[in-house]
Amino acid sequence: MTSVFLLLLLLPTIIHSLPLQPRGISTPLSCTKVNIIEQGTSPWSLQRISSTAPVTQNGRPTTELSYKYRFTELEDGEGVEVYIVDTGIDVEHPEFGRRARNAISTFDDDLEENSGHGTQIAGAIGSLNYGVAKNVSLVGIKVFSPLFDTKNAAALIANITSGVESAILLHNARRAAKNFKGSIMNLGFGFPKEVFDAAGNSDDLKKMLKKAVDDGMHVTVAAGDRGRDACTDFPAGYVKDIPGLIVVGATDVFDKRLDTADFGPCIDLHAPGGEIVSTTLKGGVKVDSGTFLSAAIVTGVIAGEMGKNEKLRMDPLGMKRLVKDKALKGVLRGVEKGGDLLVYSGMPGNPVEEFV
Ligand SMILES: *[C@@H]1O[C@H](CO)[C@@H](O)[C@H](O)[C@H]1NC(C)=O
Ligand SMILES: *[C@@H]1O[C@H](CO)[C@@H](O)[C@H](O)[C@H]1NC(C)=O
Repeated sequence: MTSVFLLLLLLPTIIHSLPLQPRGISTPLSCTKVNIIEQGTSPWSLQRISSTAPVTQNGRPTTELSYKYRFTELEDGEGVEVYIVDTGIDVEHPEFGRRARNAISTFDDDLEENSGHGTQIAGAIGSLNYGVAKNVSLVGIKVFSPLFDTKNAAALIANITSGVESAILLHNARRAAKNFKGSIMNLGFGFPKEVFDAAGNSDDLKKMLKKAVDDGMHVTVAAGDRGRDACTDFPAGYVKDIPGLIVVGATDVFDKRLDTADFGPCIDLHAPGGEIVSTTLKGGVKVDSGTFLSAAIVTGVIAGEMGKNEKLRMDPLGMKRLVKDKALKGVLRGVEKGGDLLVYSGMPGNPVEEFV
């Protein structure tokens, strides 16, 4: 895990701005077919995924909430359920409105999120002020408490496998519903091959993930944060056998791969993952770095695509192809062949910058 520091407690302002709009929303820029909404108080990461040009900081700190995120209502993820297999979600956080719930826990039904990790992921995907898809449904599947316990690797993997299975069941139960708009499973963790090999039951997890993809779930996976070949960290390394998984590396505000982020042929694409502002426990806000955050951002982008591409809602490979096709090419530094793609929502052009 990476460094952890509290930035600021924005709670009063957040409550004020609820329930319907993120702060800093300006009047629509265009009135043609679909209104473009601009959030002028966004983290840098949201400007980056909705622009073709790199972020110009012009002296601003990376953590300042003055960047510009442009999106349309079609991309707000409404109706899409995201299953976050992690530590649970602080569902009372005002940034989630009523869109977050904890569904399953492998810890004797103890649903309480006591780490913050799952809440950071949920916030990067779909919180009102820091999230990509601001109206997505966030479902906590708690398999870690408080975070990773690798002492008993077999139990760890058994718990993750059971969490993944629960997500598949929830997805399949919704499939027939009239308002079904698709599901995404978010896996914001990775363990070294050694841990998985020693456990002896990692094939169970692999089979379960294959079933998720076969059943039409989109599955995003953090590349891992060991600064090594992502094929040696799992579940990312499973992409060799399950091509429907989407493995995400992490970049900073200069479009450079984080030194700590895994790299290599198992990476499908990159997303912002350095100094990402998101939600944490007790209604708080936290800045953190890692592929768990970049994978969450790609989950948000996919939720947005599901509103625009009905045909791909149950087609993980097709969605993966689309997201990779749309990604910006040749803009990254410090990446190896195969992973030179930066996720891009497809919003045309760039925000208008007014520096004095
Ligand atoms: C989310 O979608 C619902 C249903 O369409 C709508 O009533 C609500 O206003 C939306 N909320 C936000 C934050 O856009
Ligand atoms: C797995 O889940 C059980 C409860 O079902 C819990 O007691 C145990 O601590 C968990 N193990 C790990 C390593 O997470």
